[in-house]
Formats: sequence, structure tokens, C-alpha cells
Amino acid sequence: MSPNPFPHVGIVYHSGFGHTATLADAVAEGARRGGAQVRLLPVEALTPADWDTVDAADALIFGTPTYMGNVSAGFQAFAEQTGRRCMEGAWRDKIAAGFTNSGAKSGDKMAALISLSVFAAQHHMHWVSLGLGAGWNSARGSEHDLNRLGFWLGAGTQTDVDADPDQVHPADVATCEHLGHRVAVVTGQFKAGRAATAAA
Ligand SMILES: Cc1cc2nc3c(=O)[nH]c(=O)nc-3n(C[C@H](O)[C@H](O)[C@H](O)COP(=O)(O)O)c2cc1C
Repeated sequence: MSPNPFPHVGIVYHSGFGHTATLADAVAEGARRGGAQVRLLPVEALTPADWDTVDAADALIFGTPTYMGNVSAGFQAFAEQTGRRCMEGAWRDKIAAGFTNSGAKSGDKMAALISLSVFAAQHHMHWVSLGLGAGWNSARGSEHDLNRLGFWLGAGTQTDVDADPDQVHPADVATCEHLGHRVAVVTGQFKAGRAATAAA
């Protein structure tokens, strides 16, 4: 049995103007480095084959911009399309995690992360936290720290509202890479553990 049987990670995200998409790319890069096979799945373009990919994934990482203090309407439209899967427990025991990006430093984006985690819980998924201490929280810290905005539930990032998508803060890119890597590793551990349990 392989110690890391190639976790399949889907990154399911909405991005109105490209900033969250940049961070989704970073999550994907981290997950690949963690040994996962990764699919980026923008919610507004999901084909029937993409839905099959989502359903078959071992882990789903949800991403959304923070709009009006919560997940975007685009992400929520996706969430509401999963109602039947939720009722049937189709995603039970998959791994889940999330990230969100706002214009303001806080921007009330904790509410978006909470929404993503509740969405995962309604699907009976296992939520993986960010796994980093808070950055930029002492005299020795700086905006270049990992987790510079100090979130634990998921990756909470911020992009100035007049910045282009390729100007997303490098520390936020690195933080999202960390999240993707962590999810890939945890998912590999779960897969190996389940295989060992089934074989016992
Ligand atoms: C309709 C709308 C609502 C927004 N609401 C918030 C908000 O509540 N808090 C915040 O900090 N930024 C807010 N923003 C700013 C976005 O979160 C920010 O520009 C983000 O980078 C957009 O990501 P995207 O390019 O992936 O859509 C809002 C932007 C829009 C368009």
C-alpha cells in the first residue's frame, strides 16, 4: 500500500474579478507540492464532468471573495445546487477547507469562512484548519508574515480594491499555498488510514 495514495483535491471557488482566482492557483500549487492531484473548478463553469470530479474528490477546498460580509452570491449559488447531494450525504467524510479574500483588512470576512465551514459540516465533511499561528502580531512581525491577518479557521486574505489580480499580496499567496499543502498531506494521511483500517 502506498503511504500517500495520491489524494485527489478539488478547489471549488468563485472569483468575480480574478483576485480569489489568483489565490486558488496558490492553493493548487501547494496541494500539488503536497502530493495531490489537483483540479481547479470555478463554480460558474461547472460541466457535468466537473461535477463528477467534485463528487469523486477526496478533498474539496472552497474559495470565495467576501462580498457584503459573507460568501459571494456566485459561491452561494453553487452551494445551493448541492442540496440533493447534501440530503443524500454524497460528500460524507470528504476532507474540506476554505479560503476567502476581502478588500478591507478585516472586511468581516470571518463570516465568509464560517459559512464555508458550516457548508462543509452540512455535507458531513471533515474541516481542516489553516494550521498556522498568527503572523504580524508583534513588534517583530510584518505584513510579509505567513497568515499576516491572523486566521485559524481557514486562509483569510486581503487585496487592495484597486489592485490587479496579479498584485495579490505575496504573503497571502504563500498562506494559501500552505493551506493547499496541508490539505493534501492530511488527505493523504486519511486515505492511508482508511486503507489500513479496511485491510485490518
Ligand atoms: C459586491 C461586492 C461586495 C464586497 N463586499 C466586501 C466586504 O464585505 N468586505 C470587504 O472587505 N470587501 C468587500 N468587497 C471587496 C472584495 O472582497 C475584493 O475586491 C476582492 O478582492 C474581490 O475578489 P474577486 O476579484 O475574486 O472577486 C466587495 C466587493 C464587491 C464587488
